Amino acid sequence: MPTPIRRIGMLTSGGDAPGLNAVIRAVVKTAEFEYGWKVVGIEDGFEGLLTPPKIRNLDSTAVRGILSRGGTILGTTNKGHFRTIEIDGKQQRDPAPYRELAQNMRRLGIDALVIIGGEGSQGIASELAKYGVRAVGVPKTIDNDLYGSDRTFGFDTALTVATEAIDRLHTTAASHDRVMVLEVMGRDAGWIALHSGIGGGADIILIPEIPFSMDAVASKVMTRDFQGSNFSIIVCSEGAVEQGGQQFYQESTGTLGGVGQHVAREVVTRTGKDTRVVVLGHLQRGGEPTPYDRILATRFGAAAVRELAEGRYGEVVVLRGGLITTITMVECAGKVKNVPADDEMVRTARGMGIAFGDESLDDVVPEALAEIQVDHPEASTQGDDTAED
Ligand code: F6P
Repeated sequence: MPTPIRRIGMLTSGGDAPGLNAVIRAVVKTAEFEYGWKVVGIEDGFEGLLTPPKIRNLDSTAVRGILSRGGTILGTTNKGHFRTIEIDGKQQRDPAPYRELAQNMRRLGIDALVIIGGEGSQGIASELAKYGVRAVGVPKTIDNDLYGSDRTFGFDTALTVATEAIDRLHTTAASHDRVMVLEVMGRDAGWIALHSGIGGGADIILIPEIPFSMDAVASKVMTRDFQGSNFSIIVCSEGAVEQGGQQFYQESTGTLGGVGQHVAREVVTRTGKDTRVVVLGHLQRGGEPTPYDRILATRFGAAAVRELAEGRYGEVVVLRGGLITTITMVECAGKVKNVPADDEMVRTARGMGIAFGDESLDDVVPEALAEIQVDHPEASTQGDDTAED
């Protein structure tokens, strides 16, 4: 007979997302008010349950005022000791930290866990089940690429920030007859670029799922010029790739990024148009969650506690067709929900004249085509336009 639940632990793991605190608040309140359970917050992700443990009691008073706050009051880490390591050419997990975590949970009297994290964290959670750890997962990523869920909290906030950026870029681009390249987050999936590109009225959207050709991008820019729109807005995911190319990494940090600079450089070379780049980066992840994200996060947090109460361990709460349901951690772990090539939104965007950089050059007006691939030394990609004032 499994021990009944009286005290649960909760942790946030992986990159932060607006809405994490709303989940924490919902877990605490539901556990306390609906089931009379105690809750402990575990600091810095799974690492907080290694020795010495970093935990603190959370009750409804402790989570007062955090619904609208960005970040996570518990702190977070990216896998740490629980990451997979290469042993004999295979990706494997070191059992030591898993065993230690399970032991510490028993010592601390934590009966089950709520694990708020992305697909990597759900993979760690499903591995922990082998060590007797009972857990339920809450999916988290601003990229909206978690397999099995229509939406993840944080995405709507990121989308709102990116769309506002496109709106702002429009007015300055039109004033200067410039090309503006906006690089947004999206490591493996282009949901932020696709949604914000449609919502903000971008002219070109570049996403990891649709490798682009610079000829197609440049000809779209010149076609717009030929048709009387002398500016263009290009929104690209940080993970977008050129046909036959690879993702770009920044030399300074070793992290993903730089495709925007590449696209801008090529646009200048091929079209001669004055071009600027904006990298939105972590502005998409910080700050207050939108009302949509607060509500989704609250629903996820409450649902996770109910799952634990019903003994449905090893499940991740997800949103499908507007309803909260679950998938197994095993099903969710290590998978990405990509933008399908035949996605209705991709089709809608194409129908609106938005290019994805994979278009054939056959339909391009000859006058626009004649303009590209010439050397235009007078154009620039400077990040700062004050010198021209
Ligand atoms: O997974 C979400 C994400 O926002 C990615 O789009 C991005 O590449 C990554 O996080 C960056 O995270 P960090 O800077 O924390 O490593």
